[in-house]
Amino acid sequence: MKKIVINGGKRISGTIPISGAKNSVVALIPATILANDVVTLEGVPDISDVASLVEIMEIMGAKIERNLEEGRLVIDTRSVVSRPLPYGKINSLRASYYFNGALLGRFGQATVGLPGGCDLGPRPTDLHDKAFKALGAKKIQEEAEHLEVIGDSLVGTTIYMDVVSVGATINTMLAASRAKGLTIIENAAREPEIIDVATLLNNMGAQVRGAGTDIIRITGVDEMHGAQHTVIPDRIEAGTYLALAAAMGDGVIIENVIYEHLESFIAKLEEMGVGLTIREDSIEVHKSENLKSVNITSVPYPGFATDLQQPITPLLLKAKGRGSIVDTIYQKRVNHVPELARMGANISVLDDRIIYDAPNELTGSCVQATDLRAGAALVTAGIIASGTTKISNIEFILRGYDHIIEKLTAVGVDIQLIEE
Ligand code: EPZ
Repeated sequence: MKKIVINGGKRISGTIPISGAKNSVVALIPATILANDVVTLEGVPDISDVASLVEIMEIMGAKIERNLEEGRLVIDTRSVVSRPLPYGKINSLRASYYFNGALLGRFGQATVGLPGGCDLGPRPTDLHDKAFKALGAKKIQEEAEHLEVIGDSLVGTTIYMDVVSVGATINTMLAASRAKGLTIIENAAREPEIIDVATLLNNMGAQVRGAGTDIIRITGVDEMHGAQHTVIPDRIEAGTYLALAAAMGDGVIIENVIYEHLESFIAKLEEMGVGLTIREDSIEVHKSENLKSVNITSVPYPGFATDLQQPITPLLLKAKGRGSIVDTIYQKRVNHVPELARMGANISVLDDRIIYDAPNELTGSCVQATDLRAGAALVTAGIIASGTTKISNIEFILRGYDHIIEKLTAVGVDIQLIEE
């Protein structure tokens, strides 16, 4: 079993480059099914979710040239056929549900098993189904989540999202881009990744307007052609490393960052007293001491991201005073708390609220990653802690952090991947 071993307590300095956004690229890859020509994606992160999606696409008949050293995928989906997808692979990641939207848009049918993904508590897909049904598809349960369009194509309509949902918003955009007529998504999610997917769709010939606001209008088109697209930087990877740099840095530059995507997160760092210099596409974190504890409440974008409440926690533990963290999107996203407590953190969960007391002296321990961002939090905690930290179940971490060992080693972290 692979494990990450960290000898902590050492200060870090230097530059950490940010890779392409996982939560964008996991939608961009299925979206290429809608084009009947070659699509080139640049800035693709070398993470296991990308490898899983490429494998599924090739099973469907796509021809993919991958050069992940240079972050490029050249995807030709002209020979893709809609066939039942391998449950095991589909179940390996949440984003597999995007195949539904893309296959429905192109073929009018899709047979995709239930999505997998991190255990953050209940992760329903009722809004995805509601949107597909509204567009004219019906779910044929007995064939393992088979979706089929009634009539000869999807027909545009107005869809109100009861809950702000990134996945349901993107999936609806994918299916509606080839439907007949106008689709309006109301109460749409506003994440930057949604704008990124809309940009690719429009470059392939779709007509998507309003991405990034809570009302998105899609006028269906019959044909979509090839395109070239560069994935936006990963704001969650950037936030993870900003928190680490604030905790242990003597001058760390996080490179390839779009400041606007992190405004609420940076506001929290500044509220704590972290010294930052914001530049065109990088952020320098200065050595910061005597940090103040703060309260965190995660809400839909542009508010504080649920994906960053776990990675910021080790930094909070180094501050001074009591604080609380409430995740309004995934109330059960608290599996990192007992692991941090094992490292000596004064942190606990009370009625879906995480309470912590700082400062804490963290000591290295054997801990396990329970999901992607919990794993990232444990890496940061291990770098802060004195002594050796051994993290198991690190497959979660490798799903979303491109070259994490190399990037951290380059700024002075004593970290290695071992086979045990
Ligand atoms: C995306 O998940 C991200 N994953 C998540 O990042 C991120 O935490 C989440 O958006 C934030 O909203 C990808 O983009 C692959 P949602 P998604 O639909 O789309 C409820 C990471 O660490 N909901 O926006 O699955 C749901 O229960 C991952 O990178 C419904 O009720 O999340 C949640 O409370 C973790 N019905 C809320 O909406 C639905 O049909 C937001 O979920 C869909 C969602």
